[in-house]
Amino acid sequence: MPKAVINTEFTIRKITVEDVKEIYKLLIDNRPYVGLNSRYTYFLLAKDFSDTCIVALDGDKIIAFSSGYLPPNRPDTFFNWEIVVQKDYRGKGLQKTLLLKQIKMTGAKYFEGTINPSNKVSKKNFFEIARLLKTECKTHILFTEEDFENDGHEKEILCRIGPITKDALQNCFRDTQ
Ligand SMILES: CC(C)(COP(=O)(O)OP(=O)(O)OC[C@H]1O[C@@H](n2cnc3c(N)ncnc32)[C@H](O)[C@@H]1OP(=O)(O)O)[C@@H](O)C(=O)NCCC(=O)NCCS
Repeated sequence: MPKAVINTEFTIRKITVEDVKEIYKLLIDNRPYVGLNSRYTYFLLAKDFSDTCIVALDGDKIIAFSSGYLPPNRPDTFFNWEIVVQKDYRGKGLQKTLLLKQIKMTGAKYFEGTINPSNKVSKKNFFEIARLLKTECKTHILFTEEDFENDGHEKEILCRIGPITKDALQNCFRDTQ
């Protein structure tokens, strides 16, 4: 029997404004690999983008957070902005689980996310998602170091996965229903 793709050990739900305090702490604890933006940004995500942003919980503790949205100029695409899994919960397939959930929730035909060249784990997981969805992953540089005024921020490489069919997506969730 092949290993299940979706981790069903934890509760996954949409974010709320009340979650922001804990999400912010999760992001601080996992710096520098994930950018920390103002609390106000996360309040806005919780207020206006809760249909596309989720958390994973162990009991009532938030152990992972993934944000994203449907870009207005390509509403068939789910764009993942930040994703973080708390250190003690890594290696359990939560990154793939959260991203596949967000693709399912949004009904997106394409997935987009960016990776820094040093983030080998995210790169591997993005290509694994494309493989699971039996589709391709195309990459190009979205923002260069110069765009960040050489402040130490690595370039951001956009990975666009798709087209995603409902059958291929459903197959990833086959052991969960
Ligand atoms: C990138 C990240 C989201 C991956 O999450 P994840 O759910 O742990 O991903 P996976 O379960 O697929 O594990 C990936 C790899 O982590 C490593 N890993 C395994 N156990 C681990 C542990 N206890 N602690 C740290 N890394 C571990 C392994 O190399 C594993 O690969 P393998 O499954 O082939 O052995 C997570 O590492 C993270 O939050 N990193 C910091 C923030 C970040 O880089 N976010 C992405 C850019 S915004």
